[in-house]
Amino acid sequence: MAKIIDGKAISQKIKDETRQRVMELSGKDIRVTLAVILVGDDPASQVYVRNKKRACEYCGIESREIHLPGETSEEELLALVNELNADPAVNGILVQLPVPPQIDGDKVIRAIDPSKDVDGFSPISVGALSIGLPGFRSCTPAGIIELLHRSGIETDGRECVIVGRSNIVGKPMAMLMLRENATVTVAHSHTKDLQEVTSRADILITAIGRAKFFTKEYVKEGAAVIDCGMDRDENGKLCGDVDYSDVFEKAGAITPVPGGVGPMTVAMLMHNCVEALQIQGLDRV
Ligand code: GUN
Repeated sequence: MAKIIDGKAISQKIKDETRQRVMELSGKDIRVTLAVILVGDDPASQVYVRNKKRACEYCGIESREIHLPGETSEEELLALVNELNADPAVNGILVQLPVPPQIDGDKVIRAIDPSKDVDGFSPISVGALSIGLPGFRSCTPAGIIELLHRSGIETDGRECVIVGRSNIVGKPMAMLMLRENATVTVAHSHTKDLQEVTSRADILITAIGRAKFFTKEYVKEGAAVIDCGMDRDENGKLCGDVDYSDVFEKAGAITPVPGGVGPMTVAMLMHNCVEALQIQGLDRV
């Protein structure tokens, strides 16, 4: 029977630690400010942005929410990003994705000053992570590393299989697990015999966006199973990529959905906002 990895409790601890750091900075008259840009009215994005705002309030981070209409042009958005880049009162900039189709999201991310890229999506942040230089770590993968560490799951020398190769989760996850000295395999939609590959994993990380896809046949006895999925089952209920009840008896540890990886993403964003001060050389004042 699996140990349940409680992302809600661990994320709360990280937010409390961040809140403490923000309070200490505030005692030195240093403020932490995050600018969040939302373009259009995508309902899921609105929920994410609201959650980020709430977390900022909890941690004592000032949030500047900038809501632009869905018809905003790429030039207008780039001009706003440049304005925030130049504003010394703004420590972190986040453009909620996806952006509407008339805007090239990659171009906008490239425009964010790498020292304010709290999402860790810019090529500079990704490159720094790849070669072990300091920089922002993408929030979901960084949150998974925290889940593993704080749950006492050994990574050194162990087989880690990541399913999914997105820029936001799969690829940075692979880089972070390499830094943890795991033996890393990234599987994806073209992988032959996926079951054979995932069955080797001591740590299985799934990020494919397919409801309850991974049944116990994909999981090695005693494996730690980390589910990044945010999917809907046949009844419209929120679930992960992993068939939780089927895998539960076989896994050694497992993250539930909801309450596993999800809350860690926002917690790590808060953590990155405070890191931003260090990266900007502002925390020693
Ligand atoms: N859309 C879905 N997840 C994310 C995220 O972590 N950051 C941003 N900026 N947009 C997202």
